[in-house]
Amino acid sequence: MMVSKQIFTATEIQEWLVSNLAEALKVDTAEIDTQQALESYGLDSTKAMVLVTKTEKMLGFQIAPTILWHYPDIESLSQRLAEESEELNSGAVNPTNSTPVNHVNVDLGAEVVLDPFIRPVSTSFKFNPRPDNIFLTGGTGYLGAFLLHEILQQTNADIYCLVRAANFEAGKLKLKQNLEQYALWDEQLSPRIIPVIGDLSQPKLGISTEGFEMLAANIDSIYHSGAMLNYVYPYQALKSPNVLGTQEVLRMASLFKLKPVHYVSSVAVFESPDYAGKLVKEDDNFDNWQGIFLGYSQTKWVAEQLVKVAAQRGIPITIHRPPLISGDSRTGICNTDDFINLVIKGCIQMGCFPDVDYMLDASPVDYVSKAIVYLSRQEESLGKAFHLQHPEPVPLKQLVEWISSVGFPIEMIPYEQWQEKLINNLSSQDNPLYTLRPFLLERWSDEQITIPDLYLQSRRPKISCEATVNALAGSGIVCPPLDSQLLMTYSAFLMQNGFLTFA
Ligand SMILES: NC(=O)c1ccc[n+]([C@@H]2O[C@H](COP(=O)([O-])OP(=O)(O)OC[C@H]3O[C@@H](n4cnc5c(N)ncnc54)[C@H](OP(=O)(O)O)[C@@H]3O)[C@@H](O)[C@H]2O)c1
Repeated sequence: MMVSKQIFTATEIQEWLVSNLAEALKVDTAEIDTQQALESYGLDSTKAMVLVTKTEKMLGFQIAPTILWHYPDIESLSQRLAEESEELNSGAVNPTNSTPVNHVNVDLGAEVVLDPFIRPVSTSFKFNPRPDNIFLTGGTGYLGAFLLHEILQQTNADIYCLVRAANFEAGKLKLKQNLEQYALWDEQLSPRIIPVIGDLSQPKLGISTEGFEMLAANIDSIYHSGAMLNYVYPYQALKSPNVLGTQEVLRMASLFKLKPVHYVSSVAVFESPDYAGKLVKEDDNFDNWQGIFLGYSQTKWVAEQLVKVAAQRGIPITIHRPPLISGDSRTGICNTDDFINLVIKGCIQMGCFPDVDYMLDASPVDYVSKAIVYLSRQEESLGKAFHLQHPEPVPLKQLVEWISSVGFPIEMIPYEQWQEKLINNLSSQDNPLYTLRPFLLERWSDEQITIPDLYLQSRRPKISCEATVNALAGSGIVCPPLDSQLLMTYSAFLMQNGFLTFA
């Protein structure tokens, strides 16, 4: 690891970059605009990498390869590099542990602090199998739409939905349009959907004190599915909605009368390498957080821990950990903006998939939502966690073979070659992988692994869903097999709506 011995100012770095870029492009320095996107100079990735390497030598420290995506013009890049130069020399950052430029190590254990005022006024709690009033967060999202639909189907309750919108009407319209998008809107049930304008990242969920207290006094149970899903932002950028938002939900649960919280967590909570290769069961503790790199996953780990602290204080909870969520197994309708769909589309456009040891353990959204709502309605579920994992996952290779069999010309190539192609051959912004490149290529930690590396089978735990499947026995809720019939349903939808096309 190179270590800088000199602090460079942003101006010095800027001058150096301008002159070297001009040299690489064989143009006069006056032609370089420091606020213009570097990409617009037609700097191919080889030249960009040469420039980065030369800059590293000059500065005396390593630069994350994706820095050009995060700081795309010379001015912002110089500013960031100057900060880093200063941090390294002042000892604020230990270069041997250096993390990517926009991510800092966070002591997640120390983040698990639940406001001491959040505790039940009384520990007496009587489970109510027929709630009249339910509070739901995330109802304008993908899983949230299906949860809202299932709650409408499985209960007679009115559902108060936290929505980010300008006013009541706009909130209602947002919920309606979201349900329509997934073919779940039923006009007759509309009166039972009541928007509550607010924001997870604000104290008391951005609801007025009177409104918050009124809800706390009348709501019978809470489903917390809302979160900001962003795989590039660091922990600090996601903490307010995902961690503090969960704290506010728990506050509502404990205020006046005690209500159960059905919390949508994620398999991200066991991303620590400590669990690699190990069997993880629903009610394990998952205390280990070291080595969870993604800011999003970090927030999900901390939020789940807060829910567990609340449980220790006497708040009734259930925890539901979905894996990747795939489309509706009945209609094929899915969230086409989802990471998995974008990667599949991008790989098809590129003509190749990486040959990696992945298991496709996605579960259909209708299974996940039905299971969560059913389980949350069983008294014996209280205090427990559930894994909505696919009970019979299939290798990624099987999916690729299937895609190829329906007529998409596609091959599997070694992972390093695929990465090379992504860096060198992918110039079309129409390919979704183009914008996902920072996510796919950024290297993390001393091991310098990429995020896709994290999902290799060897790095993942073996996720048991036995207790969950047992708890669902007799409910008629079964996870549909990941077979050609399901894949046909999915691809028919994706082709019909133009998301996937034959070249
Ligand atoms: N999708 C998956 O594959 C997956 C896998 C495992 C776990 N999960 C978990 O499942 C839950 C739902 O995910 P999803 O797929 O439905 O995500 P999504 O489609 O991105 O929906 C997120 C929801 O959260 C809301 N939200 C975000 N920030 C908010 C804020 N500051 N205030 C109020 N609402 C806010 C969004 O509202 P707007 O409409 O206003 O943005 C939206 O309703 C999340 O907790 C996620 O961590 C998802």
